Amino acid sequence: MPLDDQRTEFQAALSAVRTLDDLKKLRDQWLGRKSGELTRQLKTLATLPPDERSAAGARLNALKQEIESALAAREKTLAATARPAGAIDVSLPARVPRAGRRHPLTLLRERIEDIFASMGFEVIDGPELEDDYHNFEALNMPAEHPARDMQDTLYLAQPVQGWAGNRGKSTGKSFPRHQPATLLRTHTSGMQIRHMETHEPPIRIIAPGRVYRRDNFDATHTPMFTQVEGLVVDEGVTMGDLKGTLQAFVSRLFEIEAAVRFRPSFFPYTEPSAELDMQCVFCAGRGCHICKQTGWMEVLGCGMVHPAVFEAVGYDPERYTGFAFGMGIERLAMSRFGIDDIRAFYENDIRLLEQFPL
Ligand code: DAH
Repeated sequence: MPLDDQRTEFQAALSAVRTLDDLKKLRDQWLGRKSGELTRQLKTLATLPPDERSAAGARLNALKQEIESALAAREKTLAATARPAGAIDVSLPARVPRAGRRHPLTLLRERIEDIFASMGFEVIDGPELEDDYHNFEALNMPAEHPARDMQDTLYLAQPVQGWAGNRGKSTGKSFPRHQPATLLRTHTSGMQIRHMETHEPPIRIIAPGRVYRRDNFDATHTPMFTQVEGLVVDEGVTMGDLKGTLQAFVSRLFEIEAAVRFRPSFFPYTEPSAELDMQCVFCAGRGCHICKQTGWMEVLGCGMVHPAVFEAVGYDPERYTGFAFGMGIERLAMSRFGIDDIRAFYENDIRLLEQFPL
């Protein structure tokens, strides 16, 4: 091959070199001591007639030097940009570490707790495995009471020995509270009983926690959800206190002077009973898909504590009155955050969770 063609071939190969490794291969290919192309050609010089030898030798040597200096120059630039194995490439876009966030239900529960705490309520906790007595019977729902069907109960196959109860001052009264747990609590209302059994009035508590029902899993139902129970008991507590407290709560939760209404309802453990609705925050009461065109959103159930409940815990119903309330916070979170499928809270889709503050 004429030398000019070889030069062109080498230059093409050199321009394709990307790494020091490529470069070493190219050097071996051309200048390698055993099989390098130019090495081989230089060896053949001896076979040429003497009068051609020196001119051919000079041309070959010139090309060899050219190749050597081109290789050296390329090596220099490659070495300057190559990074040692394991080194950090500071030119790569940074990977922003993802910070964990609190779940929207946690944020809402904490907000509810803060609002009630500022009104002097204590936040208490209790067992999710519950017995029939606390979940139903002491709440004025004896066996066979039809109101038990308002909630589809999940029963345990085997009774579980449970919870020691809230640590509070002992009233010295004895109640059938050491019955083994036989069900998953269907609501947090049993916490009213547990607290009154171990405390004397005045009482102002909320009890947030998980509850369980045999329900479908669809856009508005999950078999497990979260409630916040509330209870206030003292001498002279009236329905006016109930209304004022809950109205203040709703306004602070939604951060507007919310229009609310109390609708007559029924719960076995309150008399009278009501449901609190609030004007739909999405359409200001005009009617939209979120409030199902009613202009109102259901917020909670409430009422004045039934005398039978006071009797079950040994309070004198002639002396004490009180109010209670219970709300499902998934539904509240859906209204508060504009989420239209309750399952979103349990799917842990990072695109949803990332939208909430740290
Ligand atoms: N326990 C009711 C439920 O799960 C909610 C409720 C209604 C709680 C009225 C109360 C109350 O304390 O007074 O639907």
